[in-house]
Order: sequence, then C-alpha cells, then structure tokens
Amino acid sequence: MTIPLIPQETIRRKRDGDTISQAEIERFVRGITDGRVADSQISAFAMAVYFSGMSPDEGAALTLAMRDSGDVIDWTGLGFEPGAPIVDKHSTGGVGDKVSLMLAPIVAACGGLVPMISGRGLGHSGGTLDKFEAIPGYDPFPSIDRFAEIVKTVGCSIIGQTGELAPADKRFYAVRDVTATVESIPLITASILSKKLAAGLNSLVMDVKYGNGAFMSTHGQAKELAENIVRVANTAGTPTTALLTDMNQVLGRTAGNAVEVVETIEFLTDPAGADKRLVDVTIALAAYMLVMSGVEQAVELATAKATAALENGSAAEIFEKMVAAQGGGNNILSTHQSKVVIAPVEYVIECAGDGYVNSMDTRAIGMAVVALGGGRTDPTAKIDHSVGLTHICQIGDRATAGAPLARVRAHDEASAKIAAAAVKGAITIDNEMPVMRPIVSEIIEG
Ligand code: URA
Repeated sequence: MTIPLIPQETIRRKRDGDTISQAEIERFVRGITDGRVADSQISAFAMAVYFSGMSPDEGAALTLAMRDSGDVIDWTGLGFEPGAPIVDKHSTGGVGDKVSLMLAPIVAACGGLVPMISGRGLGHSGGTLDKFEAIPGYDPFPSIDRFAEIVKTVGCSIIGQTGELAPADKRFYAVRDVTATVESIPLITASILSKKLAAGLNSLVMDVKYGNGAFMSTHGQAKELAENIVRVANTAGTPTTALLTDMNQVLGRTAGNAVEVVETIEFLTDPAGADKRLVDVTIALAAYMLVMSGVEQAVELATAKATAALENGSAAEIFEKMVAAQGGGNNILSTHQSKVVIAPVEYVIECAGDGYVNSMDTRAIGMAVVALGGGRTDPTAKIDHSVGLTHICQIGDRATAGAPLARVRAHDEASAKIAAAAVKGAITIDNEMPVMRPIVSEIIEG
C-alpha cells in the first residue's frame, strides 16, 4: 500500500517536535521536487525545523532525499576506477575567498582528481564561478562527458551547477531565502551536502568559515555547523573532514573577480610573494583533501607534497591546462595581463592615522565590491568582473598616515571614491597591536 503525502501532517509533527521517519521525509522531498508541496508548506516545514531541529537520522534522511531528487553523477560510469581519489572542497563563503582557484590545481598536481562544482556569489560573498568568468572564453558549463574528460586528462575541472543536481534544494533554498529560515543547521547541512553528494564524490573537505565576513559569525555556530556536516556526510557514506577558518578579514589581498584571478596567477607563479594566510589555508585544505582521498596517509606528508606542488610550479601548469581545456585560451599564466580585464581607474585609499590595522568589517568591504558592480544582490543580476579592490591591508599591518590601506579599481573616480569611503570606514586603526587569530582554528574529523 502506498502511503499518501499529506504535507500538513508532516509539518504538524515537526512543529510539535516529533521525529519524522525516513519514508515520510522522502515523500515530502518528492513533493517539493514535483510541485505537490506548495511554497507555503515548504516555508512552514522550514520554520518548524528551524524551531524544533532534527535528529541526526532525520538530517541524514533529508540530505539523502534531496541528493536523490535529481541526477547523481556516477564517476565509474564515466570511466573512472571505483575508489578513485575523487575529492572536492566546499567553502561556506566569504570575502576574497579565491582558494578554490589555486587549491584544485594543487591537489590535482599531487594525484587527486577534483571535479569542482561551484556557485555564484550572492550578497557580500564572492563566487568561484564569477571569478572564472573574468577569463574571456572560459566555459563553466561543459557537458558532463567533457567535464569528466577534463578531470581525467588535467586532474581538475571547475564548473557551475550542472544538469539537475539536487533540484529539491533549489526550490527549498529559494523559499528559505525569503522566509527567514536559512539559519538552521540541519537545513544548511542538507542544502550544502545534497549538492555535494550529488556530485558523486568519494570524499569531501569543508571549509567552514566564521567571523564578520562569514555566513556564521561566531566560532561556536560555525563549529556546530561543521560538526553536523561531518556527521551527516560520514553517515551518508562520504568521508568528510571540516576545517574551521577565520573570516574576520578579507582573505588575501584582493576582492573582486578579475583581480582575484590575477592574485591566483601570482600566487601560483610566485608563491614566495603570496599572502601568508592564503597560503596557509590553501595548503591545509589541500593536505586534508589528499588524506581524505587516500592519496597520502598522513597530514604532514600531504602538507609537504602540496607545498612542493605549489613551489615547483606543477600546480601553476595544471591551472593553465585547466583554463585552456575550458576555453580560456593557452598560456594564461603569461598572457593574463592582456586577457583579464581590470577596470582602468585606480584609486588609493589612504590611512588617516598611525598605528596598527586592528579590525575589519569584512562584510562591509564585500558590500563595497558589490556596490561597485562586482557582486550581486539578486541571483539573476549581471556583474562587472573588472572592478574590485587590490593591495588590501591585513590585520596587524603597521599603518601610517597617508600610506595605502587598499586600492580601488573602478570605471570612474566617483564610484571609486564611494567604495574608498566605505572601505576606509570598515577598517579600524589602533595604537595597540591586535590579538592575531590563526587562519585555521580547528579540524573536525569524522
Ligand atoms: N549555502 C547553501 O548552499 N545552502 C544553505 O542553506 C546555506 C548556504
């Protein structure tokens, strides 16, 4: 006998704090996918979960039902060995977070296989897909066969959300976004993991960020999310580790799209000159990806291998090959100055007084990039890849009156000055050297 879907009953039980069965969750998610559950019912269910929470088993059932709401990539069917080191990283997002761009080639240079499905930026945080689209010709939507071929031949490929991966999440998230129900740990977990697990990975590393530029502002909230994601992903059969990382300042020295591509190329070709926090978090994530995928047994060895791949130029070579394979042209490492367009006006933001860079309102800096046109507040909006911020100072830097805190790249002086005022107002200078936070504060293992 088929048990009918009665959405209001599921909602009522969740509202009252009952545990709902796997079968009932699956029915509800099928109803989200095929439209039998109305937006109002999705919204009520989300609010019930927001207040009542979910048990680990319910969370895992929701994640798996959402994963199975669309295509699930089968890498063995695409010609990969069962158990191949197919691994990805997902970041909860922030400002200046260009880590994926250099990380995928580093891991590929060490023997990992990285089919990375990335998203666009929304609100103050940037998106990997937008950054790659700053490279003229780069095709973020190859066919699944071409995606697999690039991963096989180059070692990594970074593309946008493809086909019908987790369509239930697309609808569920859109409703949560407008009903104040995004901030629920079981719902965030199911949303992120349904998409990642639909990509058919053999292992996953999460970069869960905390701080004033992150989705989770406190370390405690981020830890709770990281622990839940690790628990659910491992229960679902995808070995996963999470790193808790600091997002109380811009990551690296740039924020924008084209400017972040240029920072990535400089990072890969001249790692000695790269921002230390960016190097540290990238190498830490690479090391855990190599361990989780079984390429290396120990974190120390994996760290050394990833560092060598960065320093000996093999990761840079893979980045170049990946860009070429995706239509961005040959020799991007040596030709980017003429290809990747950066807005013509450069405006220096000068420091008002002496001291140390003490704190940053990272979100406000991200919003300054959005206001320049480099980000979006509506998922369908077009963005200007060429604008952004460069030479951004870091917390703990010595500051002197008149010295640059950052530079704005814009199309005209008027918009540059508006961005400059916003960035200047977001950075505090103090006589005291601030307490420095480590970039990676904790590792949550399954
Ligand atoms: N990112 C997602 O993909 N889903 C959420 O629910 C929150 C952040």
